[in-house]
Parts: sequence; C-alpha cells; structure tokens
Amino acid sequence: MVRETHVQPTDFIAPLFVKPGKGIRDPIGAMPGQYQFSVDTLVQEARELRDLGVPSVIIFGLPDRKDPVGSRSWADDGVVQQAVSALKEALPDLVVITDVCLCEYTDHGHCGVIRNGEVDNDATLELLARQAVSHAGAGADLVAPSDMMDGRVAAIREALDDSGYENTGILSYAAKYASAFYGPFREAAESAPQFGDRRGYQMDPANALEALREVELDLEEGADMVMVKPALAYLDVIRQVRDYCTVPLAAYNVSGEYAMVKAAAQNGWVDGDLVMMETLTAVKRAGADLILTYFAKDASRLLNR
Ligand code: PBG
Repeated sequence: MVRETHVQPTDFIAPLFVKPGKGIRDPIGAMPGQYQFSVDTLVQEARELRDLGVPSVIIFGLPDRKDPVGSRSWADDGVVQQAVSALKEALPDLVVITDVCLCEYTDHGHCGVIRNGEVDNDATLELLARQAVSHAGAGADLVAPSDMMDGRVAAIREALDDSGYENTGILSYAAKYASAFYGPFREAAESAPQFGDRRGYQMDPANALEALREVELDLEEGADMVMVKPALAYLDVIRQVRDYCTVPLAAYNVSGEYAMVKAAAQNGWVDGDLVMMETLTAVKRAGADLILTYFAKDASRLLNR
C-alpha cells in the first residue's frame, strides 16, 4: 500500500538482435537466455514479448557483410529494414525502435567513419542520417542514435523531415558512457572496435554535469526522448537527468549488468530473480520512465504470475 515505485511490463523495451537467414536462434554465450534471431524467429520472440505486456522492442542488426563506411546499414534490403517491416506487419501495435549506429556495419568496428586514423564526427553524420531515413522508411516508430557523434540528432531530424518522416520520433542515447559493461553486447552484435577504444566519442564515467549538457543539446536538436546508459552504475545520473528535463527518460540496463546477474545466479551465488527485480526497481526509483533490458521477458513473466 505504501510502496512508492512500481515495475510493470509496460516499462520495458526489449533489445533484440537480428541477422540474415531463416529459423535461426543462436544463443549468445555471455548473455544466457538471449539469442541472435533471423527475421522469422525475431517476429515470434516479439509476439511473445507483446503477449507478456511489453510494448516495445529495439532492434540491432548483424549485416551480411561489413565495409569501411557501414553501407549495409542504410540498404533497403538490409537485415534491420526487413525485420522492421516484418514486425510492423505482424504486430502493428508494437512500438518498434531501431538502434542507429555504424559499429555493427563497419569492418573496423567504430561508430563512425575513419579519417587519418580517427573517427571523423562530421563525415559520419550524413551516413547516420541515411540509416535513420531507411529505418523510418521500413516503418520504425522511433530511431535511437547510439553513436554519440556531436550534432547527430539535428542531422537525423532534418533528414527525416526532408524525406517525409515527420512522425518518426528520436530516442537519443544522450548520456552514453564509455563503459566496460558493454562487453557481452560487442560479442552479441559482433561490433568490437578493431583498434583503439570509444573514449573519443563516448562519455567519461567520472562526469555527470556533462550528461546534462549532452541532454540539453539533444533536446535542442529535436530529441523526443533521452536515455542514460548504462543504468546501474549511473543511478545518480538518471536522477539528475530526470530532475533536469521533462521528456520521457529511458535507462539502458546493459549487457554486462545482465551477464553478471545471470552468471552469479547460475553459480548459486545470488537469487537471480530477486536481484533482477531489485535492479529494475532501483532504476525506476532513480527516475527512469522506461528501461531497455534483456530481463524484459523474465521480469514480465514473473510480474504476470
Ligand atoms: C552501439 C551500441 C552499443 C550498445 C548499444 N548500442 C555498444 C557500444 O557502444 O560499444 C551496448 C548495449 C549493451 O551493452 O547492452 N554503439
């Protein structure tokens, strides 16, 4: 009766990985219970999530081939584009979000194009905008840029509007930290950088005011919703961003946070269900309206019992 924070399946956005093929459900080693799907099995998984009360999924693509500029990311017959149209056709009410970034599509694994050995921020913007427009064309409800290039929200908003996709929203990964908690994701998405690291464009974990500045810029540029990522080590940042703006706030309970709970639970060192629910409750209590989480299915099953 006096509980202040409630977690429900409607709070969740489930991250899903899609790759070319048929009937595929390849387990992801460091993320027990998570899979790389083909379009057909992805639709089945999304239907199960929807039936559990989860309103939304975010799609990550593993392309058939990679190149220096990530050109498969904006191909009309690309794997994400196919997945989005199949999802919107089978499950029209499901909110389909796409991750917009180059790292899964470039052979060097960085989130932007490389010039003189460095990621070129401005040259990357046009490619991200192309990718976003092509996701919108396939039917995405929201695009979610995760690359952390400066100015990408404005570039994407302008390109969407120019192409007639005024109604496609932008969920910006506004405060995304250069975090070691992304390790298992990079295996899942086959997107580890082949040289260097992402500290040139992702944020320093020591900075919180900078997160507010990033949020402010993204809102000015036209973001409809903002995100803090990762979640658990950044609960204070979630709270500060919540107090700072009024748009819906999402937090990303990332792959490493999921993997640690699963590993400890498999060893019998913690009660996995209890730790899962405590974590999700804490992220909401900190101020997140929505949680991107690999626990979406497990937690919804538990909550619906
Ligand atoms: C792509 C991207 C990453 C994640 C989401 N989008 C990896 C990265 O930036 O290195 C991480 C998600 C997770 O760890 O669950 N840029």
